[in-house]
Amino acid sequence: MSINVGSSKHITTKVLYNMKQKGEKISMLTAYDFLTARFLDEAGIEVILVGDSLGNVIQGNETTLPVTLDQMIYHTKIVKKAVRDAIVVADMTFMSYQVGVKEAISNCGRVMKETGCDAVKMEGGDYIAETVRRVVEIGIPVMGHLGLTPQSINKFGSYKTRGTEKEEADKIYSDSRILESSGIFALVLEKIPASLGKKISKALKIPTIGIGAGPDCDGQVLVTHDMLGMIEEFKPRFVRRYANTAEGMRDAFRRFKKDVKDKNFPTKDESY
Ligand code: KIV
Repeated sequence: MSINVGSSKHITTKVLYNMKQKGEKISMLTAYDFLTARFLDEAGIEVILVGDSLGNVIQGNETTLPVTLDQMIYHTKIVKKAVRDAIVVADMTFMSYQVGVKEAISNCGRVMKETGCDAVKMEGGDYIAETVRRVVEIGIPVMGHLGLTPQSINKFGSYKTRGTEKEEADKIYSDSRILESSGIFALVLEKIPASLGKKISKALKIPTIGIGAGPDCDGQVLVTHDMLGMIEEFKPRFVRRYANTAEGMRDAFRRFKKDVKDKNFPTKDESY
């Protein structure tokens, strides 16, 4: 019998907390498949998020809303298989935790049991505080997500920066305090002014992970497909591209086609 308890370098919520206290920045990227997860883990990325952004980048949907809990479980299981060190966080999908505490607990439990992931993430402020408290109480670590929360896109009406007006900035700030008291271990802050990202990061003891929330958050997250330059039409200011993968893939496909047409592939050496 073998028991996989992860490596001695396994990242836990406590490790992330200590990183904040030491001023060491946290890196987080998304993965939805085995190989990407393995590359991220090998690179030492501390947090791997199986984001419901899979609705956009894997399924080609306009929003994250159609992603189902079964789909999230399918992708998280695959990712978790590849990871030794990183903490794997699964996004709770739209309507899997908003209906009521009982349903949220049972859905979070399913995700943890069926995927082996380390934690879940939920979007929202004070209205999910009681749910967070109960889920954490039964032993499931929860990451929060405030600011531009994509599951609320139909309420917002656009993907513009949140918290630019004082009233909304104050609400995001007070929600961050409420979520911390409810027991979240980390908080994603998406597309808010850098000054608000800084204020929240200073006020909270738990780490903040920014995506378009300025340089003072305790960590940074990007959607892996965005930072790899796979989605050329999506160019928000907060995405830094570390590769031009779309062009690399297109070029490889064109060259393969040409080699086949020109009878340059396979050669004798590539045959049996
Ligand atoms: O779904 C996702 O990928 C996310 C990140 C953008 C934080 O929630």
